[in-house]
Amino acid sequence: MRKLLLLFVAFHVSAICLAQVKVQYLQTENAVNPICIDALNPRFSWQLDAGDKRGVMQTAYELKVSSAKGKHEAWKTGKVSSDQSMYIIYKGEPLASGQKYIWQVRVWDNAGKASAWSEPASFGMGMLNAADWKAKWITPGFVEDSVNRPSPLFRKGFSLNKKVASAMVYITSHGLYEAQINGKRVGDAFLTPGWTTYNKRLQYQAYDVTGLLQPGANAVGATLGSGWYRGHIGFSNQKNYYGKDIALLLQLEVTYTDGSTETIVSDESWKSSTGPVRFAEIYAGATIDNRMQVKNWSTAAFDDKSWSGVMVKDYTKNTLVATVNEPVRKHETFKPVKIFKTPKGEEVIDFGQNLVGWVQMKVSGNAGDTIRLSHAEILDKPGNFYTDNLRAARAQDIYVLKGGGEETFEPQFTWQGFRYIKVEGYKKDLNAADFTAIALYSDMKPTGTFTSSNDMINKLQHNIQWGQKGNFLDVPTDCPQRDERLGWTGDAQVFSRTATYNMNVHNFFAKWLKDVAADQYKSGSVPHVIPDVLGNDKNESGGSTGWADVSVIVPWNMYVAYGDKQILENQYSSMKAWVKYMENHSKNDLWNTGGHFGDWLFYSVNDDTDGSSAITSKYLIAQCFFAHSTQLVINTAKVLGNKQDEDYYTALLARIKKAFVNEYVTPNGLISSDTQTAYVLALEFDMLPENLRQQASDRLANNIRRYGNHLTTGFLGTPYLCHVLSRFNHVDVAYRLLLQDTYPSWLYPVKMGATTIWERWDGIRPDGSLETPTMNSYNHYAYGAIGDWMYRVVAGIDTKEEGPGYKQIIIKPTPGGNMTNIEADYNTTYGKVSSHWKIDGGNLLMHVEIPANTTATVYIPAANATGITEKGVALSSAPGVTMANESATGYVAVNVGSGVYDFSTAKP
Ligand code: BGC
Repeated sequence: MRKLLLLFVAFHVSAICLAQVKVQYLQTENAVNPICIDALNPRFSWQLDAGDKRGVMQTAYELKVSSAKGKHEAWKTGKVSSDQSMYIIYKGEPLASGQKYIWQVRVWDNAGKASAWSEPASFGMGMLNAADWKAKWITPGFVEDSVNRPSPLFRKGFSLNKKVASAMVYITSHGLYEAQINGKRVGDAFLTPGWTTYNKRLQYQAYDVTGLLQPGANAVGATLGSGWYRGHIGFSNQKNYYGKDIALLLQLEVTYTDGSTETIVSDESWKSSTGPVRFAEIYAGATIDNRMQVKNWSTAAFDDKSWSGVMVKDYTKNTLVATVNEPVRKHETFKPVKIFKTPKGEEVIDFGQNLVGWVQMKVSGNAGDTIRLSHAEILDKPGNFYTDNLRAARAQDIYVLKGGGEETFEPQFTWQGFRYIKVEGYKKDLNAADFTAIALYSDMKPTGTFTSSNDMINKLQHNIQWGQKGNFLDVPTDCPQRDERLGWTGDAQVFSRTATYNMNVHNFFAKWLKDVAADQYKSGSVPHVIPDVLGNDKNESGGSTGWADVSVIVPWNMYVAYGDKQILENQYSSMKAWVKYMENHSKNDLWNTGGHFGDWLFYSVNDDTDGSSAITSKYLIAQCFFAHSTQLVINTAKVLGNKQDEDYYTALLARIKKAFVNEYVTPNGLISSDTQTAYVLALEFDMLPENLRQQASDRLANNIRRYGNHLTTGFLGTPYLCHVLSRFNHVDVAYRLLLQDTYPSWLYPVKMGATTIWERWDGIRPDGSLETPTMNSYNHYAYGAIGDWMYRVVAGIDTKEEGPGYKQIIIKPTPGGNMTNIEADYNTTYGKVSSHWKIDGGNLLMHVEIPANTTATVYIPAANATGITEKGVALSSAPGVTMANESATGYVAVNVGSGVYDFSTAKP
């Protein structure tokens, strides 16, 4: 009996534990256990795991932070009544440079139950003051070959005489660096220190290298590449944009088990030489000569007597900042899907996917044998290797063998965008096992998946995701292959919301936006590319509508997607400066000056005698974006509680819209550019009075029909096209566009075999010929912006702007387009949100998942609530489901909290 009782108690206790909410996924500054941040008041976030329990909310939290050393308490909140689980701002004692901190949190749920304390999480503080840097900037002590600029090697031997408890190395460079300790690579990041506005902000990285050190003799080394700093960058063959020098700054902090410390720094005692990397440029590729390998150069045993010394430079350390975004790392690998000879006789390998990174090659041969790997995205019409569209980018890695056994080559300090490689100089038959393509991109967490019953749409989604992988390489680039690879602002702006669905781009954009602000011209104009390598304050190269608006649109999109108010605070003056620029350049509130890219790459025909090109006035577009950015500044002013700004910009916005209607709209609502983009922008940004909107959207729908259900929009109209159609009751037309597979359309490239998103709607023409090589990238994410509509409208996952970051979720699926099944899953800041819908006979089944500590309004496509069930129960009696006040034509809206829901209704 006693035994039974004990068993009962044990069962009961464990059942209570199971029912308890759990705190998990602790993040500091949006990263799990970051080892080097320099935010003086870091922000803490966590997720609640409540299983599939319905309606679980957090009602209070308690958080404590202590220093790892000495377990000294740095901050304790006590119990705070709040449902906030994101971005709790640290308000404890000042955090110290180089120190590690541990924190834990527990929460109370709305049943009054406390969770257990979370597992401890940690964060490390970086160098908070320039004076913390004891290291000196060093450059090679030999005269560089100024033509090829081979990669210098730097090294230093040192000894550690006590037992090491922990060690951290802080590194940055002018140019790119890779470091080694005792012959082993430090970390797994590539292309470090990444690309920022170097003259104002230079990121350093920290690595925990405890495991690389050994008792007694040690050595540390680093090799540098020209990279963005001084390599060729931009399309006008310019180099040395940030300076001619290539330099290293390295500080190794060792803590012994007895608590004492030792610091090894780059300084005049280091040695320098060169090694196998004889040349490395981003566009051109790398030349690696294995005969020049310096064996064991970063080990203690190496004799560096014959090496040169180094020069110490007094370059500034005031611009150094800790790294905010995830580093570039290796990701997917691809084996050859085909090895073949082209009609021209070229030996070519097809990896089956247009990707960004490089090829690892294994080979054996004789000393001096030289192998060239050239990269291409496509084959031309006859099937030959095609590189004309790479323009001046050589995109070729050259490998020289040292002989005497198998050698493995990978390039350094470069990357290429390619699906195919051409191999020259390889003396044997090409063997698939010896070639591996490796994808490299910023290590953002994947967050979203979208699959449907339509295979072509699934391929489109694949292409959108690969467009993102290929072009989110430390900065959002336009393309990864030709002599550009620049942070084009327009492209980033149009794709930014889609990007948030596929991957966690929070820190990626937070970092880049700092460079947007840093590079913004004094006039408020925003450069075309960030980091800006095309202009300067005197010779402004920017201010293009839809491009410069990146400074406003991306911060707002990040706020909406991640609920991070700090991004708005940080960017606010930059956002306002851009709107001020437009205001200053407008007359009577009409902005119709300046140079603009307009609706870039819209549908146009070579011989436009029938007037079918879809040309939208650039100034009309400019007025729309002037209004849109002003609206977003109003929204931001509201979020930040700045009533004065809110009033000022609200009045300005009314005048901008009035000026638009006066200038571009007839009394009956015909817009002077009678194009899809004109209607799309006017409707999306609410430029027209209410009474003209429906008929304007009808004109849009008719325009699309006139083009045989084709879109004609370019970069600026495309992202909003389907949104406007679905908002104004033309869902059927939106689906026809989505499913259209003849040019111009999203599925046309898919039909032509694309594995990424193309820059142009007709990169490969229907007859197999190619668009002009002067501008024809096959990996340009901009048109992938349709992904946002797929997640947000087709699957229907969105956030309310008043509950940003998916604190208040909207689930509003839009069946149509003969789709029978849609599954979208999205890891939001609070946890997983799912919206699946399925046509099952005469029923529409909806599967919805909502994470703890959020609420959702779910719109069920139905005329009324009768007949809707949730897990087989009538809607009115479904637990945790209440009728919502919101309504939308054709939907029944209900409110739910966390949990898993399965709704069934008659097929619409
Ligand atoms: C880039 C872009 C960019 C455009 C500006 C191109 O060369 O690749 O995508 O936005 O120039 O119009």
